[in-house]
Amino acid sequence: MAEDLVTLAIAAMERAYAPYSNFPVGAALRAQNGAVFSGCNVENAAYPQGWCAETSAIAAMIMAGETRIVEIAVAGGGAGLCTPCGGCRQRLREFAGDDLVIHVCGPEGLRRTVTLGELLPLSFGPDNLD
Ligand code: THU
Repeated sequence: MAEDLVTLAIAAMERAYAPYSNFPVGAALRAQNGAVFSGCNVENAAYPQGWCAETSAIAAMIMAGETRIVEIAVAGGGAGLCTPCGGCRQRLREFAGDDLVIHVCGPEGLRRTVTLGELLPLSFGPDNLD
């Protein structure tokens, strides 16, 4: 089921604009209606102004009118796992719960599947504001 997301995340990684870190990242997510959105990291000469691949994919989803994420693949290089950064865990939490499935990938394919609940336990989300 996740194969399309893995392929799209790796393709998005190849489109990354990461001349400063040389660490391209791609993300592809499936919204609740089944539509898929992808994005890459986009860096900037003023370093803090760059943003993450997950953020790009979320923006594409929001532009299409979707607000719920059911599954996401993130692809990055290096020997370790390219798990979503802390800020992106919280951004994902806005549109998903603990059960969100996150496929962590390298350029060669899937490395490990985790849930948002594992990466961001006891999280603060929109429901906390009720
Ligand atoms: N990066 C992402 O795109 N997503 C993450 O969750 C981890 C980090 C990007 C940000 C920056 O452009 C590069 O990876 C190095 O940190």
